Amino acid sequence: MGRMVNGGLLCILVNVLILLKTEGFFVDITYIENAVAKGAVCLDGSPPAYHLDRGFGAGINSWLVHIEGGGWCNNVTTCLDRKSTRLGSSKQMVKQLAFSGILSNKPEFNPDFYNWNRVKVRYCDGSSFTGDVEAVNPITNLHFRGARVFLAVIEDLLAKGMRSAENAVLSGCSAGGLTSILHCDSFRALLPLGTKVKCFADAGYFINAKDVSGVQHIEAFYNDVVTTHGSTKNLPVTCTSTMKPSLCFFPQYMAQQIQTPIFITNAAYDSWQIKNILAPGVADPHGLWHNCKLDITKCSPSQLQTMQGFRLEFLSALNGLGTSSSRGLFINGCYAHCQTEMQETWFRNDSPRLSNKTIAKAVGDWFYDKSPFQKIDCPYPCDKTCHNRVFDPQDQPSIDNTSIGQPDQPAINGMGIDNTKWMANVIRKYIEVILKYVALPCLVNASPEMEIFLM
Ligand SMILES: *[C@@H]1O[C@H](CO)[C@@H](O)[C@H](O)[C@H]1NC(C)=O
Ligand SMILES: *[C@@H]1O[C@H](CO)[C@@H](O)[C@H](O)[C@H]1NC(C)=O
Ligand SMILES: *[C@@H]1O[C@H](CO)[C@@H](O)[C@H](O)[C@H]1NC(C)=O
Repeated sequence: MGRMVNGGLLCILVNVLILLKTEGFFVDITYIENAVAKGAVCLDGSPPAYHLDRGFGAGINSWLVHIEGGGWCNNVTTCLDRKSTRLGSSKQMVKQLAFSGILSNKPEFNPDFYNWNRVKVRYCDGSSFTGDVEAVNPITNLHFRGARVFLAVIEDLLAKGMRSAENAVLSGCSAGGLTSILHCDSFRALLPLGTKVKCFADAGYFINAKDVSGVQHIEAFYNDVVTTHGSTKNLPVTCTSTMKPSLCFFPQYMAQQIQTPIFITNAAYDSWQIKNILAPGVADPHGLWHNCKLDITKCSPSQLQTMQGFRLEFLSALNGLGTSSSRGLFINGCYAHCQTEMQETWFRNDSPRLSNKTIAKAVGDWFYDKSPFQKIDCPYPCDKTCHNRVFDPQDQPSIDNTSIGQPDQPAINGMGIDNTKWMANVIRKYIEVILKYVALPCLVNASPEMEIFLM
């Protein structure tokens, strides 16, 4: 906590509370200063960054490279908005991040990866690490260099020991999950032939669906992303040579060609996709979807029917993965987005399960070839293990703001509270209240990320 001195004692208190709540610990940031000379920079020209917690024991030669999420920027206006945030500049990033869930260093929280070298790669390019435009407009000073950042990060990690990795996983959540899909084979190609390499995407399977008004909203948005960032040359040529290149930003059109084993975990009713692909603000001018998007239990029967239709489209888009048995699938019937970074959805007694397996066990057993896993849940509301997300109305971004992704908010609702859990929940709620109302000044100073643990 060395750098968090601004708010003094209050900040220390907050940090302790966050640690208690997330069952996590803090890991320092590393800036890749020498990437700047290669033009591998964040939107504002600052160096890229990651957080590395070294492996130990039997995991000392295994590497988990986990990519941060955070939406995309699709044009100069939205990229300028982003440039002065942590998603566009390493100058705005907190110096320490809490590691939990798939990044935890404790076997009881993270049974298969706890002793690996665990890296969280910061996201600051706005294109899921696909951009590469040489020219920098002197007026905006925007750098579209995501693909170079990806390469610089991997090269830096190779130099720090990943060159002798026995095992390596490229993972990520949301826009970072998409990165792990789009870059799966290029990650494989950068590692030694003898390394066992697999990819794992959490909530990164964004589908090309029409919105509720019948418009191809996300298709147009991704087209803007690919055009603005000059991404085409960094998308798989096996895809871009056969269709409109910007479509290859969608996993469903390019995933079949991925040679490396890959595991997809996603909620069939991905809350980001419901809010931004199916029912974005522009498609719902009267806000009829507002309450439903905040809380799936508030959806009307006809909205639920529309969401069941979205699920079927989602399942059909999964066919784009092909049928190889090296593919892993954990598609639960939940209203959620990103289930690997939070302890409660990754690996806990009450975590989501399919065939009685948590995501952590399904992925671990698949990685080590102990057992394949390809499961798709029954439709909502049949799965009683879901931690369905409930959003706070104040946290709803201006409704069509797809430029800045929603931070992840641990769900505390939607779980049955039995007597044994009651005390833990009371403590949890107290911590939340303290964090939210007492400690805000410190948080504003210290860390936009920490909002993640607030809601
Ligand atoms: C940039 O994208 C945003 C979000 O899609 C849109 O609202 C805005 O009109 C676009 N701006 C320009 C200049 O194209
Ligand atoms: C489900 O798994 C847990 C441990 O992970 C085990 O205790 C329980 O017996 C299993 N339940 C069934 C129905 O197999
Ligand atoms: C999107 O969010 C950014 C940052 O919060 C804000 O500056 C921008 O005005 C928003 N855009 C729209 C279209 O609301």
